[in-house]
Amino acid sequence: MPDIRLEGLTRRFGAATAVDDVSMVFAEGTVTCLLGPSGCGKTTLMRMIAGLEVPTAGRIRFGGRDVTGLSARQRGVAMVFQYPVMYRTLTVAENIGLPLARDRGLSAAQRCARVDEVLDVLNLSAQRDERISGLDMGARQKVAVGRAIARRCDVVLFDEPTTNVEVHAKLQLIRAFKEFRRRIRQTVVYVTHDQTEAMTLADQIALMQAGVLSQCAAPRVLYDQPDSEFGGWFLGSPGMNFLDPVGEDGGRVRFAGIARAVAVPEGGMAGLRAGIRPEYVRVFSQASAGRVAGRVTGNCITIGGQHLLTLSVDGAELKAKVPPGGGMVPGSAAYVECPAANVMLFRNGQRLFEPSVSWSSPLR
Ligand SMILES: Nc1ncnc2c1ncn2[C@@H]1O[C@H](COP(=O)(O)OP(=O)(O)O)[C@@H](O)[C@H]1O
Ligand SMILES: [Mg+2]
Repeated sequence: MPDIRLEGLTRRFGAATAVDDVSMVFAEGTVTCLLGPSGCGKTTLMRMIAGLEVPTAGRIRFGGRDVTGLSARQRGVAMVFQYPVMYRTLTVAENIGLPLARDRGLSAAQRCARVDEVLDVLNLSAQRDERISGLDMGARQKVAVGRAIARRCDVVLFDEPTTNVEVHAKLQLIRAFKEFRRRIRQTVVYVTHDQTEAMTLADQIALMQAGVLSQCAAPRVLYDQPDSEFGGWFLGSPGMNFLDPVGEDGGRVRFAGIARAVAVPEGGMAGLRAGIRPEYVRVFSQASAGRVAGRVTGNCITIGGQHLLTLSVDGAELKAKVPPGGGMVPGSAAYVECPAANVMLFRNGQRLFEPSVSWSSPLR
């Protein structure tokens, strides 16, 4: 089973650059999610890996073999698209078995066993003899997944397979996906704009922004250690808060909502911002050292058993996720603490990695 290596992969359409100089590795047998907002180049990147789109520049290697000039068929990859293409008058089992008919190395009995295994993995055995035309989108998409994995290609590519599927069927599809991963090892590239899906399915997430690979890391690392403001903002619901400096004194800077100051990093104040995720912001009804006074401004929305508060502190807007029952309503006075350990510094959108970042004791 090969890994996939991209080297300086670029695709331009006229003056527009859809994919811009992407270099990365998809380790063999792992799932990589290409994640990013609509139009950031995910599909174009996937189509180049598939051999459906010709790169303007760069190379693609499967396990050391340069496949850049090979057709889709020569590369031996299977694909699942957003809109499944299927034979509506054939049954579920017939659709899954169809691509296997071309494989002359397989006997009829082997083909049949392969189809049965896939039906079992995807929990489709009960529908094996139903026609596609009678199935809902969720079941159809499962069949499309089944057809792609039945071929046992080394590489399987998925382009937003759950986008047109209703919520319940979507969860089923994700469960089926995890089950097939457990039973059949293939190198998988999975395109999605849905961060929850990426966090659930991926061994590594490749986060894209405007054609550029922003960061590639394990889901938890990407979430906890974003190396750009974009990563902090795109992951999380809502994403990270970003706070501007509100004062500089004696070589130290303080940011809105944060009671401590930090030594001004090398390079000065230009483009400097602090970031903290809403779940780390602590909100109290009493003043105390280390807390900055503010006010609740936004309605409290409950997400997954937690309250989301919108606060105003030092003239900045801050979101906080807090346990319910704190008695905070719009208009309430609120005292905010941003623990120094959870605050990151960014300059011009890029994370500053400074082992020496040391925060003062509370100034307020
Ligand atoms: N065949 C094409 N011709 C011209 N522009 C294209 C073509 N395919 C994609 N693009 C452009 O490239 C950019 C990336 O598109 P795409 O890869 O589909 O993004 P995503 O899948 O992340 O939504 C978009 O601006 C899109 O309009
Ligand atoms: Mg797309």
